[in-house]
Amino acid sequence: MKTVLVTGGAGFIGSNFIYYLLRTHPEDRVVCVDCLTYAGNLSTLKDAMENPHFVFYKTDICDRDGIDRIFTVEKPDIVVNFAAESHVDRSIESPEVFLRTNILGTQVLMDACRKHGIERYHQVSTDEVYGDLPLDRPDLMFTEETPIHTSSPYSASKASADLLVQAYARTYGLPVSISRCSNNYGPYHFPEKLIPLMIANALNDKPLPVYGEGKNVRDWLYVEDHCRAIDLIMREGRPGEVYNVGGHNEMQNIEIVKLICDYLHKPYDLITYVKDRKGHDMRYAIDPTKIHRELGWLPETPFRVGIVKTIDWYLNHREWWETIISGEYRNYYERMYGNR
Ligand code: NAD
Ligand code: TYD
Repeated sequence: MKTVLVTGGAGFIGSNFIYYLLRTHPEDRVVCVDCLTYAGNLSTLKDAMENPHFVFYKTDICDRDGIDRIFTVEKPDIVVNFAAESHVDRSIESPEVFLRTNILGTQVLMDACRKHGIERYHQVSTDEVYGDLPLDRPDLMFTEETPIHTSSPYSASKASADLLVQAYARTYGLPVSISRCSNNYGPYHFPEKLIPLMIANALNDKPLPVYGEGKNVRDWLYVEDHCRAIDLIMREGRPGEVYNVGGHNEMQNIEIVKLICDYLHKPYDLITYVKDRKGHDMRYAIDPTKIHRELGWLPETPFRVGIVKTIDWYLNHREWWETIISGEYRNYYERMYGNR
């Protein structure tokens, strides 16, 4: 039995990871730490709250004393850090909070790991730390040896955190691992990101804002495949190592938007080309050979299956995303815990 401390568990991938752990390792305890920024939605964890093996702390990962208290009480064996500011467009508008949470928050967590002793600190990173690839070189992919070369304040903050994690491994002998994953999609994805935004807008017959010409390419992975990869790496991956995680599923943004329109029987007239993102990365593509060779991981959900599951989830959970769009979700914590 292990105690796994998951930060950022009220967000998209962290919440999927918590449900994955509770389902696949029912003997483990899961401790979630999340300060519930605009991207955190406690109602996502409603079902987990009923599990006696789950506990939630509303705490900022930059709060050194608060984090220390949680480590003292919960004594985690494994720490998995999902907590981050994660939206590139917001990082272009206001970089500072990205540096605070993504870099300093990582430092606070690793200091607590050093002080209290843990088996593994796992940093959830991104393929965006490698920068981008040209559209006309489909033969090129990111490997773990590709140099770090960032484009946005978001990716620069994630890359800085990765360097700090490797420095803590080398300097203090902290047992760490890092995963760098491509774009995820699936349930509980906040509707400011491409796929959930397009689904929600299409369902509301609102314009579908495509940046530039819509030709940018992302390598999409169903979120549960990412969760399985992280679980494998944190338990069986070699300490000190980086593992790339990706699905060999490259798609242009415009192809995805059209596919969503087709499935929902919405006209392409809704598609609106808008001003491009500053410094917009052209193409991401992951080479996942290392995690396959060392840990036997392969993606299990083909895109055509995953995207239908995802659109159906948004159709069946209208309340989840409508309360986000209306802002009502931010009152959930107060309603649940305000008088306790
Ligand atoms: P998200 O924005 O949906 O969720 C982030 C969560 O972290 C939220 O619940 C938020 O409340 C919490 N949080 C933010 N700042 C915090 C702080 N200071 N203290 C405590 N909690 C805080 O993000 P996501 O898409 O689930 O991404 C999770 C991680 O995975 C991030 O580190 C991101 O860089 C990485 N990643 C994401 C993708 C993707 O496609 N979404 C791909 C690769 C890697
Ligand atoms: P996003 O979901 O923000 O992920 P990331 O920038 O981390 O890859 O965006 C995915 C792609 O979709 C990216 O090329 C930007 C584009 N995009 C749009 O065209 N319109 C939008 O409204 C959004 C949010 C993104």
